[in-house]
Amino acid sequence: MGTRYATVAARRFGQTGRHDAWWLTPIAVFLGLSAFITYATWAAFQAEHYHFGPYLSPFYSPEVFGESPHSWFGPKPSAWPGWLPWSPAFLILWAPGGFRLTCYYYRGAYYKAFWADPPACAVGESRQRYVGESSLPLILQNVHRYFLYLALLFLVFLSHDVWKALWFEDPATGEAELGAGVGTLVLLGNVVLLAGYTFSCHSLRHIIGGRVDALPGSPIRFAAYSCASCLNRRHMLWAWMSLFSVGFADLYVRLCSTGVWSDWRIF
Ligand code: FES
Repeated sequence: MGTRYATVAARRFGQTGRHDAWWLTPIAVFLGLSAFITYATWAAFQAEHYHFGPYLSPFYSPEVFGESPHSWFGPKPSAWPGWLPWSPAFLILWAPGGFRLTCYYYRGAYYKAFWADPPACAVGESRQRYVGESSLPLILQNVHRYFLYLALLFLVFLSHDVWKALWFEDPATGEAELGAGVGTLVLLGNVVLLAGYTFSCHSLRHIIGGRVDALPGSPIRFAAYSCASCLNRRHMLWAWMSLFSVGFADLYVRLCSTGVWSDWRIF
């Protein structure tokens, strides 16, 4: 029996047979990510108003060097070149930034929204040859697993910040006393959402599942795998909610520090 081959003409850029509003998601992603990147870059360059009382902005945590009482090793190192802009955020933001940049969900989203490669499924793209992540530079996206280890470490730092946000200085005695303000809840909510995002990571699922992603044998490993898989089903939602919360947590601390907002003490 003979074989007949059908030829499919390559689509022009933007050409598609789809009748739905396929362009809506890439535009929303473009606007959302652009707004966050712009705000985060601006906030990182400020190098001030990133702490208020016991609160520390997540963009500046951990504060390895810096002027605030949260700093681990004191002020800016004297060896820092005078011509180079300084901010405590520069020392640490590359880690959570790299984690998001190499995230499987965000990769799919920004390849479509920013590079239009392709703009959506079954929509024509500008490039005709697909090399994807099999060659440089995109092959470097595979470092995601290592950024995951760093992200897990950052969850420990941010959880410690929530603990510190429970201790307020008594104006009369100068002693630290247990309490909670709206800022404590903002920082707590941020850690919960970031934990949801981190623990729903595809790489974490693969790490727990093993090399072949076979169902793990031990009950504890099986439970961890099931939990990660369950969270993973909503990874996109975790990604956006945690992106919003981390930006809002910085904004909250910043506006309290500048006196625009007052932090309401719950107890
Ligand atoms: Fe999104 Fe790992 S896949 S954080």
